[in-house]
Amino acid sequence: MNKEKEILILGIESSCDDTSASVIKNGYLLSNVTASQKVHEAYGGVVPELASRAHQQNIVPVVDQAIKQAGIKNEDISAIAFTRGPGLLGSLLVGTSFAKGFSLATGAPLIEINHLQAHVLAHFIREQDVPYDPPKFPFLCLLVSGGNSQIIVVKDYLDMEVMGQTIDDAAGEAFDKCAKVMGLPYPGGPFVDKLAKEGNPDAFKFAKPRVQNFDYSFSGLKTSFLYYLRDQLKENENFIEERKADLCASLQKTIVDILLEKLIKAARETGIKEIAVAGGVSANSGLRHTLIETAAKYRWKMHIPKFAFTTDNAAMIAMTGYFKYQKGEFTGMDAVPFARMDIRV
Ligand code: KG4
Repeated sequence: MNKEKEILILGIESSCDDTSASVIKNGYLLSNVTASQKVHEAYGGVVPELASRAHQQNIVPVVDQAIKQAGIKNEDISAIAFTRGPGLLGSLLVGTSFAKGFSLATGAPLIEINHLQAHVLAHFIREQDVPYDPPKFPFLCLLVSGGNSQIIVVKDYLDMEVMGQTIDDAAGEAFDKCAKVMGLPYPGGPFVDKLAKEGNPDAFKFAKPRVQNFDYSFSGLKTSFLYYLRDQLKENENFIEERKADLCASLQKTIVDILLEKLIKAARETGIKEIAVAGGVSANSGLRHTLIETAAKYRWKMHIPKFAFTTDNAAMIAMTGYFKYQKGEFTGMDAVPFARMDIRV
């Protein structure tokens, strides 16, 4: 391919507690560098002020490394795609400001990215020598992360509609908050997943929500889990330690059941059989396993992204930037970050 036709997108992600930069060339991944922030572990959750400070420390070396790994020069970059929202304002501000500075220095235009759209479009990231079989439109995407739980109808790359979403906590929050009650480190999702492998998923039953349509709710589960443990601890102060694996397995099964029930309903209602999953919670082995089983039962074509593209990463931001670049959707210097953003924006 000659030089004129090369589209090189630098992606920058800073919506929560991961500082990430990536370079994508004509839809193919050249680099994806992420610095996670350990500073929050001691607090059992992300502390916004500490997150934005850590982004400030990380952003220059992370972008520098992404550009070096990609083997390109600053002046080769066609456009800079940055996460405008949704997310933590202070964190978003660091990525947005950096992107503007980089744009001024290089002359490359800016492209604002909706973080939620990017999670969905992570399915389209191409890698050299890796088979490419992305979902076909229209498809349903179950987006499950620390901040979101949604069922999205994806009609085209940049044409998405939310069918249902959580009315309170996200699935990742349910994992993390219940993990915290059991004394597990933050974020607890991966620890619950690991312990669940040794436990009995039918050992305990926890409350499942009754929510209308395709919406989710996880706050009742969190409360039921908390109260159950509190009662048991009155009888036996070692209850959590003795039954941790069973608690994790039962909690995980409940969350996965809640997620699947509405997803199956949405697939039935729309008649769509191309199903995808995205967001940090899609790393959960119980969810992955159940999705594969369910797909076989209902003859879905299931799309589960590579682990590195499920949690927050800049490759998905650069990929979305690539689609917007082709449509000429650029952003002015007056862009400010948004804490809340609808998936259609
Ligand atoms: O998409 P993501 O990286 O970013 C945010 O939304 O912040 O998702 C992070 C969430 C956390 O709640 C974390 O506990 C959860 O994804 N998570 C998991 C697993 N890996 C990450 N939850 C359950 N099982 C896992 N293996």
